[in-house]
Amino acid sequence: DAAEKGGHEYFMLKEIEEQPEALANTLRGHFVDGRVVLDEQRLADQDLRDIDKVFVVACGSAYHSGLVAKYAIEHWCRLPVEVELASEFRYRDPVLDRDTLVVAVSQSGETADTLEAIRHAREQKARVLAVCNTNGAQIPRESDAVLYTHAGPEIGVASTKAFLAQVAANYLVGLALASARGTKYPDEVAREFAELEAMPQAVSTVLGTAPQVRELARDLATAKAVLFLGRHVGYPVALEGALKLKELAYMHAEGFAAGELKHGPIALIEEGLPVVVVMPSPKGRAVLHSKLLSNIREIQARGARTIVIAEEGDDTVRPFADHLIEIPAVPTLLQPLVSTIPLQVLAAEIARAKGYDVDKPRNLAKSVTVE
Ligand code: G6P
Repeated sequence: DAAEKGGHEYFMLKEIEEQPEALANTLRGHFVDGRVVLDEQRLADQDLRDIDKVFVVACGSAYHSGLVAKYAIEHWCRLPVEVELASEFRYRDPVLDRDTLVVAVSQSGETADTLEAIRHAREQKARVLAVCNTNGAQIPRESDAVLYTHAGPEIGVASTKAFLAQVAANYLVGLALASARGTKYPDEVAREFAELEAMPQAVSTVLGTAPQVRELARDLATAKAVLFLGRHVGYPVALEGALKLKELAYMHAEGFAAGELKHGPIALIEEGLPVVVVMPSPKGRAVLHSKLLSNIREIQARGARTIVIAEEGDDTVRPFADHLIEIPAVPTLLQPLVSTIPLQVLAAEIARAKGYDVDKPRNLAKSVTVE
């Protein structure tokens, strides 16, 4: 057991460290002759060209990976994208037809809600593309196209490397659609793919923040609640950071879109409340950056304890960050691949500081095969 954990106390900590490799494995082999390609495609290219709407359906962390995908797919493919909790999607009456692509994201490929969602979609003649970490699982078997993540087996119940691989695979789905539909030239697809290929290195770099985050975690272990704020692709990262903390440390944690702060969440701010803020790049998203900066200023003035995740060299945040965690500068749309990492470490280390079982949090299952 100790050997399997590679010297780590928990599988989850090992899996967090395996993320550069999981990412590289997921990307490998997907850029062929100027196009990004899927693993299995039982659809004609023309079917992909005819798609006029995309739904991403998923549960838990996979759902958060879908929220990230929305920003990338809309931008790259100029297609409307809705992201839906699988358990809600199937009990509504979603408007689907043969020109709708439903992307089902599932690590296990066996999640009951996601499986039933794609069955419903197929009955309505929608096309289904599965993003899955498990070869031959039920969801990919029942799909028209498949892209496998290659995160390897994940033992920790709370998803880390499988989540990161899902985020990466969803980018590939976006680029595959852009390739098939001609919304991007091959050289643009090549450039985006090359940027993705540089990400495992960036993830390795950000893993270097772990000792600093561990120290912070010991401090936060007694907090009653933690808030997470982000905008654009940082918003799903905030949601994922909060989910990890609930799952592992049994703390009240909530993620908010920072722009909503004054519409409610600011009422929660009180002396000493830890608030984690995921900052966009000051260069890549200057306008959003300045809006978030004023958010941090506001909450700090009300006594919150600010924990800021910001691009290295972003000195404008320093005066407002009680605790600064620096991440490498990467292309804006890809930032979740690095900004998520410190939040995973934070949740795991708070759980460890509280003496909880990081790999097997109470009441949770790795894969939920009943509704
Ligand atoms: C469970 C797991 C989560 C996971 C979710 C969806 O709740 O505890 O970590 O994100 O199921 O699982 P899937 O296998 O469909 O990605």
